[in-house]
Amino acid sequence: MDEEQSRFIETFRTFIEEVLQSPRAFVEQRTPLGDVVAAFLRADIEAFPVISEDLAPHRLVDADIALDELAASGADTALDPPRVIGVGGGSQREHSTFAELLRNPHVQFMPAPVDYVSSATGPATERRTVSFGVRLLHLDGKPIAVLQRGPRDEYGRSSARLEILAAEPESAARLLTEVRRLMLERSVLRGQVLAFSGNEYGSGGAGADFLPRPVVSAEDVVLAPGILDDIVRHVVGIGEQRTTLRAAGQHLKRGVLLYGPPGSGKTLTVRHLLSSTPGTTAVLLTGTSIRFITHAADLARAMQPAIVVLEDVDLVAMERDMYDGPQPLLFAVLDALDGLDGDADVAFVLTTNRVEVLERALADRPGRVDLAVEIPLPDADARRRLFSLYARDLPLSEAAVTDAAEHADGVTGSFAKELMRRTVLLAAEEHRAPTDTDLADALEALLSTREQLTRRLLGAREDSHLPSQPGEE
Ligand SMILES: Nc1ncnc2c1ncn2[C@@H]1O[C@H](COP(=O)(O)OP(=O)(O)OP(=O)(O)O)[C@@H](O)[C@H]1O
Ligand SMILES: [Mg+2]
Repeated sequence: MDEEQSRFIETFRTFIEEVLQSPRAFVEQRTPLGDVVAAFLRADIEAFPVISEDLAPHRLVDADIALDELAASGADTALDPPRVIGVGGGSQREHSTFAELLRNPHVQFMPAPVDYVSSATGPATERRTVSFGVRLLHLDGKPIAVLQRGPRDEYGRSSARLEILAAEPESAARLLTEVRRLMLERSVLRGQVLAFSGNEYGSGGAGADFLPRPVVSAEDVVLAPGILDDIVRHVVGIGEQRTTLRAAGQHLKRGVLLYGPPGSGKTLTVRHLLSSTPGTTAVLLTGTSIRFITHAADLARAMQPAIVVLEDVDLVAMERDMYDGPQPLLFAVLDALDGLDGDADVAFVLTTNRVEVLERALADRPGRVDLAVEIPLPDADARRRLFSLYARDLPLSEAAVTDAAEHADGVTGSFAKELMRRTVLLAAEEHRAPTDTDLADALEALLSTREQLTRRLLGAREDSHLPSQPGEE
């Protein structure tokens, strides 16, 4: 190595050291993904503001539908076709904003296949939904880019999100307005029967599960004459007369409380109401999911006509909270009942078998429930009809069924149902069709002291038993 070479190497080493120590000159470096987006937007995207919108996880599919529709309606042969591109570059993308995906000195985010998830759109239907992708589309001829992503609890993101980038802020704002409108109009939740369930990651987001709409005819519900009609008129009838009622300045919001002993048909009545209101959005909250009441009420308002069912609402009256003291959830429920505008076409249906727990709270804040109906234990006539209903497919004589009903004072509909199952079982164990004797045997067994707890669990009154036989106490 001659001296010149050594000098050169020394100079080069100094140069490299200086390069390494100097601050980066091009911190805001556009990524390959950024190049694609900039080409579509035909502009220097670096200065654009981004508008973000967080969505409840179960609304991602609605946003997906809305954006697909907007992309299709904005397509024009004179313009670049709308499309969706995925984002490659590793898990860092989960921690990056849309702006960071487009210019980033550390990670070269690049176009890649789109990520999809399968989202339910009904009890038995699904849709392939973009869970991470950049949509390129036009609205009123203006190019817009939207980053669409689903929730990722493992990365601490419990909601879905849209981030909108356009040359003019007005275009981005207009797109968001259109998305919101279509999400409401086309929502997959509209007209469905939905159950809310919590998110197990504890992020507090509610997911909506689709349930098939029950099929329960009026004949399947055995109550004293007039009771079912009153309930149906209040819940369904007010909805059917909405135009006339509104024109007359009357409110449509209504609250019905069904109370009575366990197994007497409250839930069955609710199922009949859902069966009678096809096309009405129904939100069912039971037990712990009642904590989503505010969510459910908002959804009901947006999707009206709607029914919100709060099953076993007495459970919430027992809730305690470290900070708010007893019954915070009950107050949330009462607030939700009160919170909607009077002319919202929303029916709240509450059920309880412990009305005494609620009575005070409801009486203290009147006007939430405008119809309270007792669903009592069936009387002799209702019992006969119940026993006949559940015996209808069995080869039993009318006399035997009537006789059984008369001997089973104080029992409920669920008892009648269980009795017939046991009758069939007794015969099935001997490989033959059930007879009147099986019915009598099954009844005797169910009414025996041994089955006292069973009877209570089926909702029978404490003192329900067979009239004492000679030789018995
Ligand atoms: N009045 C009734 N008419 C017809 N069937 C009934 C009736 N009551 C109860 N049953 C039968 O018993 C089952 C249980 O009744 P249901 O779930 O409606 O009771 P519930 O009043 O809601 O009780 P709980 O207070 O325990 O929730 C019903 O699915 C139905 O098969
Ligand atoms: Mg019930």
